[in-house]
Amino acid sequence: MTTADEIVLHVKDLYVSFYTYEGVVKALDGVIMFLRRGDTMGLVGETGCGKSVTAKAILGLVEAPGRIEGGKVIFFDKDAETQEITELDLAQLTSEEMLEIRGNKISIVFQDPATYPNPVFRIGDQIAEVIELHQDLSLDVLYMKIAKLELALSETNSDVNRAEIESKIAYYRQQMEDPPEPDKKSIKEAAKLKAIEMLRMVRMPAPEQVANQYPHELSGGMRQRALIAMSLACNPSILICDEATTALDVTVQAQVLKLLNQLKTEIGTSIIVITHDMGVVAETCEWVNVMYAGTSVESCATERLFTKPLHPYTAGLLKAVPKLHEDRERLPQIRGSVPNLISPPTGCRFHPRCDYATEICIETKPILEELEPRHWAACHHPLWTSGGKKNE
Ligand SMILES: Nc1ncnc2c1ncn2[C@@H]1O[C@H](COP(=O)(O)OP(=O)(O)O)[C@@H](O)[C@H]1O
Ligand SMILES: [Mg+2]
Repeated sequence: MTTADEIVLHVKDLYVSFYTYEGVVKALDGVIMFLRRGDTMGLVGETGCGKSVTAKAILGLVEAPGRIEGGKVIFFDKDAETQEITELDLAQLTSEEMLEIRGNKISIVFQDPATYPNPVFRIGDQIAEVIELHQDLSLDVLYMKIAKLELALSETNSDVNRAEIESKIAYYRQQMEDPPEPDKKSIKEAAKLKAIEMLRMVRMPAPEQVANQYPHELSGGMRQRALIAMSLACNPSILICDEATTALDVTVQAQVLKLLNQLKTEIGTSIIVITHDMGVVAETCEWVNVMYAGTSVESCATERLFTKPLHPYTAGLLKAVPKLHEDRERLPQIRGSVPNLISPPTGCRFHPRCDYATEICIETKPILEELEPRHWAACHHPLWTSGGKKNE
């Protein structure tokens, strides 16, 4: 990375294992990843490659029998007011400290919206609760009071009332410089209004009505929108979507993905899109990280990945992407399957499935290197290079 890139998250040589009865599952084996501020980054790989474990490690959600064995998860926390950046290693924080980060600075949307949002509470109340917990509403309360007074002003005919209302408005306007701590009732009311605003922001149809509905009353796509609204209600620096659109049908999926990209520009959140679907990456991400069996195998701009992949695994994934008018049945697959991570292959974990593998691939684990400008890959026999480090 060049110094001009502002990094918001840097995952550095991350190792995670699960201590099961069958043996130690070496789920993450030196994962490396950057997320630039304001970017949408895709994390791709077949099922079982460690994408969700990576997300959990970032969020401090690796639970027993899992353990972070090594590495760093560096979060560059930028203060909204002073713009000052604090460097935090999330892998070193206590669970209490992580609670402060999770759903506050870093938020996640999971795949299964059936169990979440909470089925017994109204959508609006759930979003309002997140807003109350994470946002300072003192200014919003003043705006709300002024809006109400302005409405009253437009409705009154009496000059006496008018003067009184105007003086109240002036009083609240003055308070805006240094807003006082609002009372509980006003906070609740402002949070509810803001929840509707959030629903409107995620392009929810009839947001006022949806706010009063329960999750089961919404379609899958709408529920996913509500979840995104909830995840954004805390104004996170990073939003992680773990297969968030996988369960949705293709049209709804496209809508949600488009929405994510619009929101990113509107509120400046950096996004990690976790998916096994290269089509999703092509449509939403500026940058891609490819994972294979718990290792980082390739990292570059999306356009470049699709035109000039360096790693044979990436090339295999791309071949399996259905093109328009192509018969889905006859798509070439990468032979074999993701290995058992209790006894993973030696050297390059991909070598048993790779057409280019030689002795060195069995013996030595390749390191992730910048083989071409702004294009990283971990491979002893990259597919092409134009004067990069490994010209063959
Ligand atoms: N709680 C757990 N106990 C044991 N193994 C686990 C656990 N969670 C994940 N794993 C293993 O870690 C590896 C990566 O899993 P995961 O991150 O869920 O893959 P992905 O999200 O890419 O499909 C898999 O081999 C999986 O079996
Ligand atoms: Mg997963």
